[in-house]
Amino acid sequence: MSTIQLQTSIPGPKSRALAARREAAVPRGLSHGTPVYVARAQDAWLEDVDGNRFLDLAGGIGCVNVGHRNPMVTTAIESQLENFLHTCVQVTPYENYVRLAERLNQITPGKFSKRTLLLNTGAEAVENAIKIARAHTGRSSVIAFEDAFHGRTMMALALTSKTHPYKAGFAPFPSDVYQVPYAYCYRCSYSLQYPSCDVFCARHLEDTFKRVVAAEDVAAVIAEPVLGEGGFVTPPPEFFRIVMDICHKHGVLFIADEVQSGFGRTGKMFACEHYGIEPDMVVTAKSLGGGLPLAAVTGRAEIMDAPGPGGLGGTFAGNPLSCAAANAVLDAFEAKDQDLLSRANSIGHQFQKRAQSWQSRYEIVGDVRGLGSMRAIELVKSRETREPAPEETKRITQYCYEHGLITITAGTYNNVIRVLVPLVITDEQMDEALDVLEDALASVSAGQPVIAEAISK
Ligand SMILES: Cc1ncc(COP(=O)(O)O)c(C=O)c1O
Repeated sequence: MSTIQLQTSIPGPKSRALAARREAAVPRGLSHGTPVYVARAQDAWLEDVDGNRFLDLAGGIGCVNVGHRNPMVTTAIESQLENFLHTCVQVTPYENYVRLAERLNQITPGKFSKRTLLLNTGAEAVENAIKIARAHTGRSSVIAFEDAFHGRTMMALALTSKTHPYKAGFAPFPSDVYQVPYAYCYRCSYSLQYPSCDVFCARHLEDTFKRVVAAEDVAAVIAEPVLGEGGFVTPPPEFFRIVMDICHKHGVLFIADEVQSGFGRTGKMFACEHYGIEPDMVVTAKSLGGGLPLAAVTGRAEIMDAPGPGGLGGTFAGNPLSCAAANAVLDAFEAKDQDLLSRANSIGHQFQKRAQSWQSRYEIVGDVRGLGSMRAIELVKSRETREPAPEETKRITQYCYEHGLITITAGTYNNVIRVLVPLVITDEQMDEALDVLEDALASVSAGQPVIAEAISK
């Protein structure tokens, strides 16, 4: 039996009524990808207030890798509810914060001694990683990458690349931030091709230290191992090794932002593991809390201990309910019967196989990429010019939600459809989701050249 079940046209009458109330009460700057209001969610599906059931490829933007309402997570939250909700760790600390820190120190890449600081959101964790890097190095500058997204607070926005809608109109941002091209091979900033380019974009960091900002002024380079909002761009295997070697040669710290790529999304606990690197600090959030707000900075002990007592913290940072949920998330990853890392890989294969078949049939599918279940398709108006196809991308997501599938887009050019599905989705459900996406591609491609036909002509 199919999981998707639609009772009304989408959005239904109750969702439309809530949308009218929302318009009067909430600023338009907070936008929604899908016009349905949720009533409940479980595993990889959610149901709206009109009784329509959707498959969810968005997972709250990658926050429920262990599934909506994973029973291990809800049980841990319920048991914490019986004890206490909030004391503030800076007033009276509690065990589950310390346990979570110990576990994150253990599972993040690198066997060296580490410390973990807990925060509320990804942006807040990014801000704290920069504070710590500055305190440790005594240097002020930070280098980030084009097409990166690090959050919506002021420093995180300074590090973020995309102008509209994120940065435009919100300046001034903190200074001493520089952006350099990422390894976006499909749209190489240097018009080179991998592997003949010899990963020029990574080696170019040396040049940046000569022409843009002196290495001895740079506290850190921050990078997403796979771009999230930037469109699931997946650099070549050597990219981060080269960047990190250059950083360390100059005493610059390397911070990996694993907020979106972390917690099993790529088939390993952290995407960095695919690249064989051990960052000085790793920033995590999203799926760490299993659906509750929680973020972390985990790093080398001597770096993390640079700020003095009282220099780090936050009233709700690392609150006990979120810590209970996060410890349960880590238990779920350890549970043999859930085998979430293997699931991430098989979901990724399932998607890749279908997406490659779309690429061979539909001109609009320009690039298919990703790691593990962190997969995406980049849509173009023409294979030759690679002109982005944002309007078509929007029509595809609309077709999807009207047919029971929640998807989200990404990319600097708003032309990427990304998969952040809960890893507990079954093969049958994933097939059902991919059928809807395929129908959407066919519907939007109608009237446009289909590759097989174009070739035979
Ligand atoms: C890579 C990355 N870093 C940071 C953030 C910011 O996280 P938050 O929205 O929790 O502040 C995001 C959010 O999408 C992200 O994808």
